[in-house]
Amino acid sequence: MCGIIGYTGRRKAAPIILDGLKKLEYRGYDSAGIATLSGGIHIKKDAGRIDEINSRLDFLDMPGNIGIGQTRWATHGMVTRENAHPHTDCLNGIAIVHNGIIENYQELKNSLNGHKFSSDTDTEIIAHLIEEEMKNGNGFIEASKIAFKKLQGNYAILAINKNDGRMIASRRGSPLVIGVGEGEYYPASDIPAFLDHTKNVIYLYDDDFAILGENFEIFNLEKDGRVKRNIDTVDWSAEQAKKGKFDHFMLKEISEQTDAIQRAIAQDEKMIEDISNEIKKAEGVFLVGCGSSYHACLTASYIFSEIAKLHVNVVLGSEFKNYKHFLKDKTLVIPVSQSGETADVLEAVSIAKNHGCRIVSVVNVVGSSLHRNSYRSLLMNAGPEICVLSTKTYTSQVALLTLLAYSVAGKYENGKKELKNLYTLVYNLTSKNTREHIKELAKKLKNKEHLFTIGRGLEYSTSLEAALKIKEVSYIHAEGFAGGELKHGTIALIEKGTPCIIFTSQKHEKETLSNAMEIKSRGGKIIGIAPENNEIFDFFIKVPEVALLNSICQIIPIQILAYQLAILR
Ligand code: M6R
Repeated sequence: MCGIIGYTGRRKAAPIILDGLKKLEYRGYDSAGIATLSGGIHIKKDAGRIDEINSRLDFLDMPGNIGIGQTRWATHGMVTRENAHPHTDCLNGIAIVHNGIIENYQELKNSLNGHKFSSDTDTEIIAHLIEEEMKNGNGFIEASKIAFKKLQGNYAILAINKNDGRMIASRRGSPLVIGVGEGEYYPASDIPAFLDHTKNVIYLYDDDFAILGENFEIFNLEKDGRVKRNIDTVDWSAEQAKKGKFDHFMLKEISEQTDAIQRAIAQDEKMIEDISNEIKKAEGVFLVGCGSSYHACLTASYIFSEIAKLHVNVVLGSEFKNYKHFLKDKTLVIPVSQSGETADVLEAVSIAKNHGCRIVSVVNVVGSSLHRNSYRSLLMNAGPEICVLSTKTYTSQVALLTLLAYSVAGKYENGKKELKNLYTLVYNLTSKNTREHIKELAKKLKNKEHLFTIGRGLEYSTSLEAALKIKEVSYIHAEGFAGGELKHGTIALIEKGTPCIIFTSQKHEKETLSNAMEIKSRGGKIIGIAPENNEIFDFFIKVPEVALLNSICQIIPIQILAYQLAILR
């Protein structure tokens, strides 16, 4: 994942791009660079973090009111200045930034005889392809269209040319939206990059090719013609995309979980009802997601089973293709995604659509590819997720799917009531006192190399999500297991001092505590996330017992723990 942003308008481009890049740094941060246009192309780029590069190279000094920039997370080529974006053609007349992967880049590179390449990236060939087409007599815009049609794989590209005052913004598979100001355009990977300047956005579709200058025009390379795209207004505020009083976005988003629940309760009831009717009449329901969104789906499968007595299939986005034989036109596929741009989820949607299935999604980003490709969508309304880790959006997904399950069971109001009861409990779980208590645990765990998370039923999916959170931000190896699986081999991993986080609830208390006992007898240290303390626990974090909503309350201490571990490490 990388972040790209461009600017064209009346103002100096570099400061706007620099600010946008800082807001996109969550998408990648090993190198960064900016190209501007003013009597030729000016480029500054290097390996390192944006602030640090800026202190050496001074981006603000770059002239021109058109420019493009990228913050990189290396995929092709090491982290070096040469591989940092922007990339240019042989003559330094075209500059490109790109997010995505060009799968046929080697083949295209081989076809570019006589071109001199300065990097190991797949991106650079795009500039040379345009150069080649311009040599064949095409103008910058036409040459770019021809070049982009040759690309296989995913891309969001911004391109400028030294003899053309316009910028090109095009995408396939990778996100790209255009902020629209007064005579100004801000194409970017994500909306927070330009929220300080405008809330008006154009969501580009796959194969859209936008030409941005004094006005804008959009073509679609697949349809080979001009297309109309609406300018929508986002209801996110610039403040929502800032850290405010918090040290990190992760902490801010953890503490926003009370809002996430409130927004779930304030859902469009008609939409919930319509979707639950779709579920009831479907012949087979698939919940599809990746990472934390998959865990939310898994959690929901237990809740659907319990409340609605309904079996739903839960499949990882990347595995969905293996289930295509079970898809019929009456099958309902429910993709769950914060961004609405996860490639594996979008691929699953396309497979499902090819089989005639109806798509009903749970999604946060309005206007995202998933939102546009869905027959109906339940919007999470969780605000921008800037921290790469899902915290508030996981809670929001669990809350919405729970409401759906209650609605399918004809008990929507009960579901709403359960969620309302959660509000104060969640607030307490994110309070300073709880955070201080968890910090003590983080101090004990910070030098560990492995830890395990264990639960049964709903607590099993919580243990998978807990392990993901810890791995992702603290880089400690963590693995989640179903309690019943311990005896099937996993117990071999427990040795003296191995930390095991155990999630218990009233429903599974006995069995899970007996797992804790097995672990303890092999010298493992037990961290209990439970409603009541127990003598087996070496460390105890109290969470309220809220039955089917335990998943929300139990994950919060772990989100905080993962954060504290990351800080300490
Ligand atoms: O945007 P999505 O919900 O589709 O993203 C799916 C996963 O990449 C995501 O949930 C990821 O696992 C989390 N950020 C982990 O914290």
